[in-house]
Amino acid sequence: MTDDEKAVPYGPVPAGIAGIGHHVPDRVIDNEYFEKYLDTSDEWIQQRTGIVQRRWLAEDEKPSDMFVAAAEMAMEDAGVRPEDVDLVVVGTASGDYLAPAVACVVQARLGLPKCGAFDIMAACSGFLYALATGASFIGTGRYRNVLAIGGDAMSRLIDQEDRSTAVLFGDGAGAVVLQPHEVCRRGLVEDYVLGADGEGVPLLLRPKGGAAEPMTEEILRNREHFIHMEGRKVYRFAAARMIWLLDWAMRDQDPEELGWMIPHQMNRRILEQATAHLGIPPNKVLHNIQKYGNTSAGSVPILLSEGYRKGLFEKDKFLVLGAFGAGLTWAGARIRW
Ligand SMILES: CC(C)(COP(=O)(O)OP(=O)(O)OC[C@H]1O[C@@H](n2cnc3c(N)ncnc32)[C@H](O)[C@@H]1OP(=O)(O)O)[C@@H](O)C(=O)NCCC(=O)NCCS
Repeated sequence: MTDDEKAVPYGPVPAGIAGIGHHVPDRVIDNEYFEKYLDTSDEWIQQRTGIVQRRWLAEDEKPSDMFVAAAEMAMEDAGVRPEDVDLVVVGTASGDYLAPAVACVVQARLGLPKCGAFDIMAACSGFLYALATGASFIGTGRYRNVLAIGGDAMSRLIDQEDRSTAVLFGDGAGAVVLQPHEVCRRGLVEDYVLGADGEGVPLLLRPKGGAAEPMTEEILRNREHFIHMEGRKVYRFAAARMIWLLDWAMRDQDPEELGWMIPHQMNRRILEQATAHLGIPPNKVLHNIQKYGNTSAGSVPILLSEGYRKGLFEKDKFLVLGAFGAGLTWAGARIRW
């Protein structure tokens, strides 16, 4: 295998990240908000998770508002007009409707051509699944400008009366424009990995109100349409998978060339333990869980966009993106800047 083949396992045309954007709602929910009606405290939340505040959509806002705003920022950054886009993929578990795909809403709102538009449901791994899918479409040589979006409106899926989940999540979205790397000359998607373990479905899910058990008054009364999570078990899965993902991304790489780790923001403790375990210096890891909580599929692209806007990414160094979530799913990508 030549070096080139090793760098481009997903098709003959390597993909690059031509533009990046993100959006979070204006409404700030701090930890004190929960102290007023739940048996919890700012201290508990900060100590166990690292979260200080999160953003939630206002009542009259929709998830697609975030996806559209993030995509517009990414398109502007890439210098891409709506008519140039030839595919839109949204990784989310919280589109505007149960069906159809929110990607179709986004396509119409952005005034894109009648290109392909579909959602990917991989929970918190959704953005990296969308990125891998978009990079693979670019890889075929048939697509030139793919919008890969990730985000969630978790405030609409959580049981706000359940202290074990309500405090953890926030709303937000991020987006990238993918192009053939020879066109945009930056953000080479060097490699990616996707995985899932369906045995873990019961650990994190919305148990009822789907097509297996359609909504009834009893389901509503029992609040079984909201997210249910076995927090401890998910924590253990995430800690082990984070180490596995970082290990995958660093294999055969020169550690000196590591630019930044951009991990899914689910729990600050997990990230600190995983990176310490692998000897990765804390100053190589980006965090924003303190500001936004866990934004599910939004967390990796928001962090990517913030890091990019701060000018942190150096040419020829690589970024490691990693996420895991319900399914259970996980995904990683190595991006050479
Ligand atoms: C949820 C999480 C923060 C809980 O931390 P933990 O150290 O594992 O705590 P436990 O779940 O063991 O709960 C310890 C106690 O805190 C309580 N607790 C849970 N949420 C609480 C809250 N918001 N405030 C105060 N106490 C809380 C529990 O009821 C439990 O009480 P008990 O010992 O009387 O039963 C942690 O498990 C976690 O981050 N899990 C992953 C969650 C996640 O991000 N999932 C998304 C996947 S992408």
